[in-house]
Amino acid sequence: MKILVTGGAGYIGSHTIKKLGRKGHELLTIDNLSTGHREAVLFGGFKKGDIRDPVFLKRVFSAFRPQALIHFAASAIVPESVTNPLPYWENNISAMVTLLRAAVEHRVKMAVFSSSAAVYGEPEKVPITEDHPQHPANPYGMTKLVGEGILADCDLAHGLKSVCLRYFNASGLDPDGELVEDREVETHLIPLVLKVAASHERSRMAAKAREQSRLRPVKPAGCPALLRATSDSQSSGAGSSLRPVRAYGPEGEQGAKARPLRHAPSAMRSVVHIFGNDYPTPDGTCVRDYIHVNDLAQAHILALEWLSREKRSGAFNVGNGRGYSVRQVVETARQVTGLPIPSQDVPRRPGDPAELVASSVKIRKVLGWKPEFPELEKIIASSWAYFGRGIEGRK
Ligand code: UFG
Repeated sequence: MKILVTGGAGYIGSHTIKKLGRKGHELLTIDNLSTGHREAVLFGGFKKGDIRDPVFLKRVFSAFRPQALIHFAASAIVPESVTNPLPYWENNISAMVTLLRAAVEHRVKMAVFSSSAAVYGEPEKVPITEDHPQHPANPYGMTKLVGEGILADCDLAHGLKSVCLRYFNASGLDPDGELVEDREVETHLIPLVLKVAASHERSRMAAKAREQSRLRPVKPAGCPALLRATSDSQSSGAGSSLRPVRAYGPEGEQGAKARPLRHAPSAMRSVVHIFGNDYPTPDGTCVRDYIHVNDLAQAHILALEWLSREKRSGAFNVGNGRGYSVRQVVETARQVTGLPIPSQDVPRRPGDPAELVASSVKIRKVLGWKPEFPELEKIIASSWAYFGRGIEGRK
């Protein structure tokens, strides 16, 4: 199938492209690279451009003539949508209208849309079924709900059939280690927790290396062997396939002045902030349904197959049906990494519902979806393979 993918250079998009490419689909990714990475698009063609630009879209649709559209490109950070909502309306709604106008004009008949559990808001009951009332608790969720409405109208008026996939908490990484999760500003719980783990361990290893070199017999200054040993120990987080980024040690620690740590995942943290400990949940912290990004990617493939077969629209939750609190995530990460991971309770973050857990009955039954990585330990371990690079073999 010829599939046009918006936002295919992003985290979920790139994992989906990899699965679609392996199935032999003909793909074209369009992405403005505002948050995505060109090198993450492992299959098909790529055009850099913006879906807010109708001229660019017309060129792409006319040349590629897609049969189906998968629409990932969006702003997707819940807390940011609360403090700065207008870009969310612009990127998630205005741009989507421009995109769908081009799709309709070029007679595209199938679309898969990245919707979100955020369309439900604070749930009245969990697990959340697809017919649960929708009262988004933040602007991000509101834009996704409106996006679903626009697609419903396009079905009625233009016969554009769509599947809205309501993602719960996408997490984990490509088990082959070919794709990364690397955002300039990270707000998501699991990558932040793993960055704290890695940061502490790197600091400990660096301190140990400094101590060892202090105890070593002194060689004349400028001796090449000594210089080499020092620079090797400083870049111990190296993973040769990663692009060089700037990373920093935890604040307040000796030797933590900003210095480039070559080839390490970006922006180190010193402590995990737990946002709110007074929610009506068993341990007072928010509960989420963490779903492996590969299982999420698989849902897109099944959705396309279903659309081709059934030629009707639908909406599906994509979650495992099991919730974990923020504290449970931190604790599981401690077990997976074998590292202490300090945490600190801080006030609630605006826009966070207390509990979001999917009923996955419909997607299992109708699309035949079955998660490959339902266990939180495996999800976190797949991310740790990236965030902990260079320190697994630590002493
Ligand atoms: N959290 C912390 N500390 C942090 C980061 C997050 O306590 O440093 C908490 C949040 O308050 C929340 C939970 O961890 O309770 C998960 O937060 P994330 O930022 O990882 O994810 P969200 O639940 O806010 O949002 C994600 C997606 C949305 C999607 C939503 C659906 O980013 O697109 O899941 O469940 F809508």
